[in-house]
Parts: sequence; structure tokens; C-alpha cells
Amino acid sequence: MSLLTTNRLTKRFGGLVAVNDVNLQIEENETLGIIGPNGSGKTTLFNLLTGFFSPTAGRVILQGKDVTRLSPEERVGMGMVRTFQLVSVFGSLRVWENLVPCVTWRNNEYRSLWKFMTSLVGDTWADSFEALRLVGLENYADAVTANLSYGDKRLLEIALALSLKPKLLLLDEPFSGLSDVEIAKVLSLLQSIKGKVTIGIIEHKISTIVDFVDRLCVMNEGRIICEGKPHEVLKDSLVNECYWGKQETVSGFPV
Ligand SMILES: Nc1ncnc2c1ncn2[C@@H]1O[C@H](COP(=O)(O)OP(=O)(O)O)[C@@H](O)[C@H]1O
Ligand SMILES: [Mg+2]
Repeated sequence: MSLLTTNRLTKRFGGLVAVNDVNLQIEENETLGIIGPNGSGKTTLFNLLTGFFSPTAGRVILQGKDVTRLSPEERVGMGMVRTFQLVSVFGSLRVWENLVPCVTWRNNEYRSLWKFMTSLVGDTWADSFEALRLVGLENYADAVTANLSYGDKRLLEIALALSLKPKLLLLDEPFSGLSDVEIAKVLSLLQSIKGKVTIGIIEHKISTIVDFVDRLCVMNEGRIICEGKPHEVLKDSLVNECYWGKQETVSGFPV
């Protein structure tokens, strides 16, 4: 059984079909890349998977359970965690403070204010610093988050996601806006968790992920037009003809 399956998943915005009849499978512990031009429906697909949008039609199945009508929080509780195209962290908080809601949520201690306050002196500290160590931000624990570089904010966002101990981690363009050095840092972090966590990663620049992912899905106009082993997908004539234009070859990919 696949970890995640979608069944004819569709999202319309008025006359626009942003996600069109998508049947997607993500296997346990695989790393799946999703590529496609701007506006092809990649983020909308993630919003449907994670419960930020309700589908117009179709279903989302996680570990055999229909989660189509569950809230984002309920899906997090079942192990589906995401990051956002525009990095989402609390700028006015200190770096370590960002981790507290996630860690307390995961430790199931967030049931009352008293429990929350007492948890701050217990495992929450240790778990928060452990999450920061994992992404190499432990020396910035006390810094005001707004003062971090964009790349470090991205690492923090991934730390938040990982602190929730996801089964399925969905990353929406985690490299966008990052310098080459920052991309290398994030990629090396993702390499260290690859195979231990199931990863779905949206990326625009194919060269960044072609050697990282196990499988690649290409989206165009809301549909998955091709999927398979990354280097085979890049050679696929349908992808080259329908997506990058008849004249273009692999060299026409955004690299
Ligand atoms: N909340 C929304 N309301 C209306 N249209 C939207 C909304 N979100 C996305 N769209 C449209 O859906 C299409 C797919 O967008 P998106 O999923 O963001 O693409 P991608 O992530 O591949 O760039 C685009 O045409 C976009 O304008
Ligand atoms: Mg997007």
C-alpha cells in the first residue's frame, strides 16, 4: 500500500482547473520530485494534500485512510507535514521559541496552559535544541528570527517540520530565493533524512533535484503529464514536446 494516494483529485477556481484529475502515489520512504512551470498546479496540489484547500472532486488517502475532509492539523497528527513556498516562521520570536508549539504539539502536552508552561522546562527544551542541532542552527537559538538570513529561515522552517516527526514531508520549492551556498546546505540536510522520511518536493529548477529524487512527476496545466525515473523523464518526448515546446530538447529545461 502506498503511503499517500490521490484519486481523481481536482480543484477548480471558477473556470480555471488548477489541479485536474490527478492520480498520484507516494511510496513509503521514497523521495518524489514534482516539477512543472509556474501556474501548473504544484502548490495547489500540496494545498489539497495537506488540507489547506478542499478539492472540487476526488479523494486524498493517507495510509489507507480517507483524509479528504480532515483539517490540516488533523493531517499533521497523522504524519503529513509541509513547508511553504514563501518561508513561514515567526520573525518576532527567538529561533528556539519557534520550535515550542511544534514540539509541545508532538509531545501531546498542549492541552492546557499549565501543561504548556510546565513542558517548557522539560522535554520541550531538549527537543527544541535537538531540532536546531539537526539543521545546524543551534548557535542561533537565542537570535531574533527576523535577523536570520533567508537560507537559515528555510533551515528553521524545515526544523519545525522535522520536529513534528513526519512520515510524509512535503516541501514546496525549498530552494527558491536561496544562494548556491544555501542550496547546498539545505540539500545536504535533505540528503541526511532521505530514505528515513517520505519526501515530496516541488522544485522549479530541475538540475537541483534530478540527482536527489527517486522519481519525478511533471505537472502541466493541472495534470501529471509524465512520471518516472528522473533522467528518463528528462528525455521523454511527451515532456519535451507538450511542455517545453517541439523545438526544445533537454537543454530547454530550466536549469
Ligand atoms: N486561491 C486561488 N484562487 C484562485 N486561483 C488560484 C488560487 N491558487 C492558485 N490559483 C491558480 O491556480 C493555478 C495554479 O497555481 P499554483 O498551484 O500556485 O501553481 P504552481 O505552484 O505550479 O506555480 C494558477 O493559475 C493560479 O493562478
Ligand atoms: Mg507554487
